[in-house]
Amino acid sequence: MDAPDVLVIGSGAAGLSCALRLAQAGVAVTVVSKGPLTSGSTLWAQGGISAVLDAEDSLENHIRDTLVAGAGLCDERAVRFAVERGPDCIRWLIDQGVEFTRDEDDPSGNGLHLTREGGHSHRRVVHAADATGRAVETTLSGLVAAHPGIQVREHTIAVDLIVDRKTRRALGAYLLDSAHGGVEAVAARAVVLATGGANQVYLYSSNPHGASGDGIAMAWRAGCRIANMEFMQFHPTCLYHPQARNFLISEALRGEGAVLRLPNADGSPGDRFMPAFDPRAELAPRDIVARAIDYEMKRLGIKYVLLDISHKPADFIRNHFPSIHARCLELGIDITREPIPVVPSAHFTCGGVVTDLAARTDIDGLYAVGEVACTGLHGANRLASNSLLECLVFAAAAAQDLIATLRGRPLPGPLQPWDESRVRDSDEDVVVSHNWLELRTFMWDYVGIVRTTKRLERARHRVELLKQEIQEYYGNYRISPDLVELRNLVTVADLIVRSALSRRESRGLHYTLDYPDTLAEAAPTILPGRN
Ligand code: FAD
Ligand code: SIN
Repeated sequence: MDAPDVLVIGSGAAGLSCALRLAQAGVAVTVVSKGPLTSGSTLWAQGGISAVLDAEDSLENHIRDTLVAGAGLCDERAVRFAVERGPDCIRWLIDQGVEFTRDEDDPSGNGLHLTREGGHSHRRVVHAADATGRAVETTLSGLVAAHPGIQVREHTIAVDLIVDRKTRRALGAYLLDSAHGGVEAVAARAVVLATGGANQVYLYSSNPHGASGDGIAMAWRAGCRIANMEFMQFHPTCLYHPQARNFLISEALRGEGAVLRLPNADGSPGDRFMPAFDPRAELAPRDIVARAIDYEMKRLGIKYVLLDISHKPADFIRNHFPSIHARCLELGIDITREPIPVVPSAHFTCGGVVTDLAARTDIDGLYAVGEVACTGLHGANRLASNSLLECLVFAAAAAQDLIATLRGRPLPGPLQPWDESRVRDSDEDVVVSHNWLELRTFMWDYVGIVRTTKRLERARHRVELLKQEIQEYYGNYRISPDLVELRNLVTVADLIVRSALSRRESRGLHYTLDYPDTLAEAAPTILPGRN
């Protein structure tokens, strides 16, 4: 493979938009994705993208809402940076051909329909019905696939970054071809990590299978600092159904009036409970709603709560939420007539690779954009629909910085080839699947929505045992995509548990019964990269 100027690892909103902006400026780019080009969380995003586009709204309102949700840990510079660039990013997406839901009567003259979600004081969520991510991902992936300046490598998993340890400069990455085996060392003038989050570290997650924290683990191994990993966001409302445990029921339903109710003993909808927990009720930030549901489920010993939008006109529901309506109907739930059984599940990684406003990491020539990064935008809890915003804004910032600096970055010389000494195929693949399940189960049980020091210590002990076992396995056998992901998952589990143990307070998404109070002063949790 010819060495590209820039190697982009990941093809969600962050990777695709960065690659396109680079290629549109004449930079030679290779995009690798461990699945098909459209794999990743972006494809599944429902609610939308937050941006100030309503004349009644203001940048200051969006900044304030983000800071409030972030519970004192946002970096205000990053918040301002992202919010100010939101409207331009939406216009860029429209220019690329993304079709958002229109509202021709919109008094602000943008012609866009804006919906509302928890924690937002105004309607400011641009969306494509209830499948916003699909509209963004399919449009951008089509453009990337067709662009002559972009080489696409699907079903190719990055195993590790290649870094000059002396100069701390990124040189490229080792890429494993999932179909044919074989690891190639690919050189580039710069590398962009856009690998998404780590939410598959939990047994129940709204994310697709590949959200295994690969970029966070690779960056940590390369020596980058990792911040705020204790702040794993649980979405309050995932469908509770044996055949669809990871299907999300968008927060936009609550934005449009859906309420949460306890089920009565016969399963019929009972009382609303959110008003007793927060004056914003169903529209409180996610950490509050998820914790309230968790509390009620444990208090009453129930398996789910009910989300009810059936009081709205059926046409309104079908028009606003066509995908959710259709999916639930397939499973026998008519949301125009009956409530939806829902439970919280792991949804978003607020922490990640520490980056600055140009998406630069601690390693020269290594950038991180999207959910893999910790820019300071989300603090201790992400505001709904601020993630796609972050992907787009920081991908643009990375592209801008790369375009300005690439000329001064020579292509690295020959790279150290992959160590081919691990030639034995394992005859015990069951070890990988067993460890994967064990890890995700104890993370769910001990490092979930409500934590204690004792549970975290238990998790730490198990992480240590698994780390040793997986490292031994990794060192002895030919690697496979599953093994690469498992190795990364145990690394992020370790980072999450260590970060959670070091925070002796409750704040945002980190709630521990041993330290229930929020301290007056707090700082981000920053773990050094591996030496
Ligand atoms: P992703 O879209 O997750 O893409 C990651 C990419 O990296 C994939 O292409 C994957 O194949 C690739 N990859 C990963 N590891 C490797 C590797 N080792 N080698 C090669 N390739 C690799 N946010 C919002 O703002 N609004 C919403 O409405 C919204 N709804 C959501 C609904 C759901 C169901 C989910 C799961 C998330 C939602 N989010 C939403 C969050 C948001 O979708 C994600 O945070 C965002 O899409 C992440 O984009 P990304 O580009 O960083 O990563
Ligand atoms: C949703 O549609 O509820 C998801 C929005 C988000 O994660 O920002």
